[in-house]
Amino acid sequence: PLAQTGTLVAEAAAKRRAVAAFNIITLEHAEAVVAGAEAAESPVVLQISENAVTYRYGRILPLARAALALAEAAKVPVALHLDHVKQDALLRQAADAGFSSVMYDASHLPYHRNLTATRAAADWAHSQGLWVEAELGQVGGKDGKPPLDAHAPGARTGPEEACQFTAETGIDALAVAIGSSHAMTSRTAALDHALLTRLDEALRVPLVLHGSSGVPDDELARAVSGGIAKVNIGTALNIAMTNAIRAYLADHPKAVDTRSYLTVGRQAMATTATRLMGVLNADV
Ligand code: G3H
Ligand code: ZN
Repeated sequence: PLAQTGTLVAEAAAKRRAVAAFNIITLEHAEAVVAGAEAAESPVVLQISENAVTYRYGRILPLARAALALAEAAKVPVALHLDHVKQDALLRQAADAGFSSVMYDASHLPYHRNLTATRAAADWAHSQGLWVEAELGQVGGKDGKPPLDAHAPGARTGPEEACQFTAETGIDALAVAIGSSHAMTSRTAALDHALLTRLDEALRVPLVLHGSSGVPDDELARAVSGGIAKVNIGTALNIAMTNAIRAYLADHPKAVDTRSYLTVGRQAMATTATRLMGVLNADV
């Protein structure tokens, strides 16, 4: 059934677990994540990023409507989340499109402008009943940019600033920069667990890990036990799908029916999603 992101994150946080939030781009992504969650018998978040909306000719409704239908029919709780929103015009479509939550991303701005912009976005989103995530410090690797150097300004989230930021914006969850980076194709990120502990102790809101595809299983499990309650995963699904399709087409050079290779691509994504949810739900 359709669930609310805030509920799933709160339930996970109460058990010191994390809910997986997978980025969907195509209908196959959405179907695979729901199938993978059903196999794992785990709640899940389907999230659509502003970049994915841009890819879909700037239209949010076709994929959102499909995700909503899948969520309603799912055997496990499935919530819809709008991810990495920068444009107010998109933010304003979230509630009507069936999303229970948004991540508003002004993390590229200097601290005070991030705070002001996030507060305005959060005020509006809360008036629509949406649960709001925002980012402080910068998780690098967005929009094809290289990962930030660990010592670059903003590459890490400062606990004191984070305290003030969450209190003054009123956000419901904070995406923290602790060493992960977006769009990594190798699982080699080393997280700053000492910083995560300080953030977890300093803040009352649940913490969100972005760029989780580049984080190895043991580091992910440690981050969850250290206070991460929502784990965003995108690239790992794309790697699974693309590798499966590449192998299938190499073996079947005459294949033309799109269903033949999309079936193996979708299956590979479902298997990957199930496996990662196992990591997040495991006892440590
Ligand atoms: O918001 C989306 C995530 O941070 C996904 O990052 O594609 O590196 O797994 P990833
Ligand atoms: Zn992200």
